[in-house]
Amino acid sequence: MKARLVPCLLVLAALAAPSARAEEKVASVLKGDRDLGEYLSSECVTCHQPSGKQVGAIPVIIGWPEDQFVAVMHSFKRRERDNQVMQTMASRLSDEEMAALAAYFGSLKPGVKN
Ligand code: HEC
Repeated sequence: MKARLVPCLLVLAALAAPSARAEEKVASVLKGDRDLGEYLSSECVTCHQPSGKQVGAIPVIIGWPEDQFVAVMHSFKRRERDNQVMQTMASRLSDEEMAALAAYFGSLKPGVKN
């Protein structure tokens, strides 16, 4: 019983390590950091176009006031607003990361980036 538990714990420790490092990095970041937002946006722009172009059912999210953007992300995180993809995306984001994304997407103007 015990002999089997040890390798299992080692695997768990190995899995936990990278995310612990990511947390450390995020903890050192200020609110509304646009550069961090640009970095984090890579997982958003596979769907939401940074050019502001509407594609299918994916809404345009650039040029929003930052507080509104953060409020919408929180409503997904609290599951008040219903969309499974966005609930999952938002649930992984800290307040700092949401503020950073709001600063980045809020700063984009339609047609500037493609
Ligand atoms: C797999 C595609 C996909 C990804 C990736 C994705 N979204 Fe979304 N997002 C959607 C869809 C679809 C909606 C519309 C949800 C609804 O209203 O039902 C949406 C809605 C939103 C809204 C609300 C838009 C509005 O008009 O009300 C915001 C803000 C948003 N997403 C931000 C983000 C951010 C920030 C990221 C990255 C962390 C992200 N999304 C990643 C598909 C995606």
